[in-house]
Amino acid sequence: MPETFKRLPSFDFVSATAAAVKLDKLDVLKHKRTEFDLPQDTIYLDGNSLGPVTYTAKQRARDIVEQQWQTDLIQSWNSHSWIHLPQMVGAKIAPLIGAKVTSVIACDSISVNLYKLLCVCLAQQACDTQRTKILTQIGNFPTDGYIAQGLVQQKPQYTLQFIDEKAILSALSEDVAVLMLTHVNYKTGYVLDMATITAAAHAKGILVIWDLAHTAGILPVELDTWRVDYAVGCGYKYLNGGPGAPAFIYAAERHHQQIQQPLSGWMGHAAPFAFTQDYMPASGVDSFLCGTPPVLSMSVLDAALEVFADVDMAHIKAKTLALSEYFLDLWQASGLAQILPCISPISPQQRGGQLAFTHPEAYAICQALIANGVVGDFRAPNVLRLGFAPLYLSFTDILESIKRLVEIMENETYRQEQYQVKQAVT
Ligand SMILES: Cc1ncc(COP(=O)(O)O)c(C=O)c1O
Repeated sequence: MPETFKRLPSFDFVSATAAAVKLDKLDVLKHKRTEFDLPQDTIYLDGNSLGPVTYTAKQRARDIVEQQWQTDLIQSWNSHSWIHLPQMVGAKIAPLIGAKVTSVIACDSISVNLYKLLCVCLAQQACDTQRTKILTQIGNFPTDGYIAQGLVQQKPQYTLQFIDEKAILSALSEDVAVLMLTHVNYKTGYVLDMATITAAAHAKGILVIWDLAHTAGILPVELDTWRVDYAVGCGYKYLNGGPGAPAFIYAAERHHQQIQQPLSGWMGHAAPFAFTQDYMPASGVDSFLCGTPPVLSMSVLDAALEVFADVDMAHIKAKTLALSEYFLDLWQASGLAQILPCISPISPQQRGGQLAFTHPEAYAICQALIANGVVGDFRAPNVLRLGFAPLYLSFTDILESIKRLVEIMENETYRQEQYQVKQAVT
């Protein structure tokens, strides 16, 4: 059982408050907070799981139901461009990830998109029968591995190998067909060097798929410049597209002639409304579409992306890292570091938008924090994960969340019965 916690006597909240207010004054993104409709008295440290709603997205949700669907009905496919939403949303995501607008399309979920991309890559590599391996990192988000496991069951000539994320370069060999990696580790926030790894994989003839779930909207990346082959990402985290928002696919332009994706549905057909018997893929990333797009959630994501129209990804990254550095300074100064070890990289340049702390009671601590107005999340078996999305968080919020965490740890509030009950979603 962990020992009782007492804050360090040298830690002074009053002088810390003055410092936080000063940092907020210098914040070049502080005006963005007013674009989000967050509940009063809530410090939201879970934008890495589900981004909050913007006023623009709320307005679009109302309009799509009450005007476009209710009144304009089926004509909206044309009059409100519903049919072009996957390309329109893709075009808004493209500048956030350093991609040409014609290389990104919004569709399906990360899981489904990974299946398509793995199949595309294996088909591209099929002429070299020596390439029989799919590599991914140990500790990748489970769905990525599950999808690859399902695929190798269907294609037993391939094997799936899990490798240590700190030793990827040495695992690259000529028998590898595809390397599938998540750029920012979902638990620890550890960031892989996308440019170096992609170049090293290419030197061995390997195609690379990057999962940008914890990258898009929080860290700038240059997919075109770094010659990434393919990537996926989701709309519901830092892009604030709402629960279950559609995901996206990036495909480098040089591969556009070779895309043969397996889910050959009518929306990916070259002429869906010709209703011909035989499948003929659309060109480029349009061929990644499969069935009818989820218009309600795609429209909300489209509106949510407007929050990025006037911000620079470099500022977003700088503030994210400043917020998490500030949290770590206070975690050290308050003494929390002694009882809540941090498993995220200490160097800010090696981490994404979140920090992860371990504790045997991490689940209950997270529940007690939520009850006290600080929303984070728990990842099994013992991780408290906190996200530092910069468009709606202030330095004062960070100080306040440390204050509440210190109180919860000092009073052992988390031991109360109601915080021990595991819910379906943690
Ligand atoms: C790295 C990563 N990949 C994939 C997913 C989820 O994929 P999907 O959109 O298919 O639910 C998550 C969810 O948090 C994730 O963190």
